[in-house]
Amino acid sequence: MKNIKAIIFDAYGTLFDVNSAAKKCKSKIGNKWETFSNYWRTTQLEYTWLRSIMDRHKDFWQITEDSLDKSMRVFEIDPSMKKELLSLYKVLSPYSEVEKILKNLKVNNYKLAILSNGTPNLLRQLVQSNNLDNFFDSIFSIEEVRIYKPASKVYDIPVKNYKIKKNEIAFLSANTWDVSGAGNYGYQSIWVNRNKNIFDNLDYKPKYEIQSLKGLLDIIE
Ligand code: LAC
Repeated sequence: MKNIKAIIFDAYGTLFDVNSAAKKCKSKIGNKWETFSNYWRTTQLEYTWLRSIMDRHKDFWQITEDSLDKSMRVFEIDPSMKKELLSLYKVLSPYSEVEKILKNLKVNNYKLAILSNGTPNLLRQLVQSNNLDNFFDSIFSIEEVRIYKPASKVYDIPVKNYKIKKNEIAFLSANTWDVSGAGNYGYQSIWVNRNKNIFDNLDYKPKYEIQSLKGLLDIIE
């Protein structure tokens, strides 16, 4: 991969494990914790897309709560769990390799940033609670444009901020639709395929597919 000036990461699912909140409540929720967690995530994403299309923006924290409410009803989870799940969502765990890889990239002087649906506050808390705040030059939130990924206005944010070309950005996401969105926009998108999934048919195929962020060190020059 050549001429890369900035390496930009998606947050949820890419740096931070969205299932880690429900997983920490495994003993209270029982075996269904994982299907429940996946349903919560899917509903949360659907709400971001639906609200963008309806032009009825609500921030990511409100959407996270709205989608949790529905998911808890669908899975018949005791309403008393809501507070705990939401608190845990604010301090999601990073994937095990994240810190080491960021350290490596940092010494190589790339601009490192996050571009996420999360609110500035949520993203700040996430990096701070995991001691990752010193690695990032910028944390870009869609709240700046009040429309969710994969709207092109979102991917415009770092390009405008850094005054660099679209293809000078390496963008990493574990979310296939986000890789497609960023790739169609013009970034060099890399798919972090953590769970051996199948890619989407959305007019973009990433040149690079890695299983975890560790693979990034082999493709960045
Ligand atoms: C984000 C979601 C897409 O962090 O994971 O923007």
